[in-house]
Amino acid sequence: MTTTALTHIASLVTNDPSLGDGTPIGLIQDAAVVIDGDRIAWVGESSKAPATDNALDAGGRAVVPGFVDSHSHLVFAGDRTQEFNARMSGRAYSAGGIRTTVAATRAATDAELSANVARYLAEALRQGTTTQETKSGYGLTVHDEARALRIAREQTDETTYLGAHIVPPDPAYATDPAAYVALVTGEMLDACAPHARWIDVFCEQGAFDGDQARAILTAGLAKGLHPRVHANQLSYGPGVQLAVELDAASADHCTHLTDADVDALAQSRTVATLLPGAEFSTRAAWPDARRLLDAGATVALSTDCNPGSSFTSSMPFCIALAVRDMGMTPDEAVWSATAGGAAALRRTDIGRITPGARADLALLDAPSHVHLAYRPGVPLVSEVWRGGTRVV
Ligand code: NIG
Ligand code: FE
Repeated sequence: MTTTALTHIASLVTNDPSLGDGTPIGLIQDAAVVIDGDRIAWVGESSKAPATDNALDAGGRAVVPGFVDSHSHLVFAGDRTQEFNARMSGRAYSAGGIRTTVAATRAATDAELSANVARYLAEALRQGTTTQETKSGYGLTVHDEARALRIAREQTDETTYLGAHIVPPDPAYATDPAAYVALVTGEMLDACAPHARWIDVFCEQGAFDGDQARAILTAGLAKGLHPRVHANQLSYGPGVQLAVELDAASADHCTHLTDADVDALAQSRTVATLLPGAEFSTRAAWPDARRLLDAGATVALSTDCNPGSSFTSSMPFCIALAVRDMGMTPDEAVWSATAGGAAALRRTDIGRITPGARADLALLDAPSHVHLAYRPGVPLVSEVWRGGTRVV
């Protein structure tokens, strides 16, 4: 296999505390990385790099692991510009807007949906995202949920069945939400399970309550789909406790948390995934990352990219928001956007630059990862490698 060395990296985030400066992000100054096939073979100081087939000079740029965006909703059609505009004039966000996107998504062709997924994946890749989770949830019929996941699965391995996004507006369910839960846990689950790794539920007032969410996630588990939960986004509620009870990989949003919720997360391996793009785009109060970190919880950062509450695919933007408004240090935010996302997907092969990991990395037009927060809005990602191949 061909070996390639990337040399003269101004600073390298490895996310291995046993390497470099001993901090959780394992920073190495004037570093080199050796890639062998699709894997990282060696990391260390540039002067000590072993001989390789090829050598590329990073020219004093910083290198971070490719971002792991563990929460997005990319299978949709249309957008919600008018809703955003109205919100910026004072109207509140509610889960009801999801219906607008459901109607547009059902009306779209497979080719249109597939092209949209490709477009947003490419947009994310240009900003350094090398692993992208994405969900269904804008189809809400057996046919439309299964096709959303089939289309998503053609472009990413990390797919999540979110038939339980809201009870759809169809008249049959208006007076009988239990009939929709039966569909989600029955015929729809059977059609979707072959295309999904995860099952998710929007556990929130106006969506699904704790008992419905438990029934949905338990049914998914029985079909081999592991849970993740949209929890405590718009109000306090049972989502976080349920996520911990079911050993969900992740409780996502975590904006309204009691002390008991924070303790439960801290004592579990359920990752608290924070989605600052949603609070930004809905003008809501920020989740308190500092409180979670100080309690000992594992925190991930993700975009939640969707046309309603967070229409950004940019992990650097989320890092900047988390540092400015959620009490995270730049080191913590970069860790959460890489290793944290990997933990939220229960993956050990991504989110770090250490021997054996997949060779996914982003080169920054900056001397340090701190610039991701220090230079908000600036397109610093200048080169991206995924699986040992340069892709940007
Ligand atoms: O993660 N919370 C539920 N789902 C999305 C919003 C979807 C929408 O508004 O279209 C979220 O914020
Ligand atoms: Fe979401």
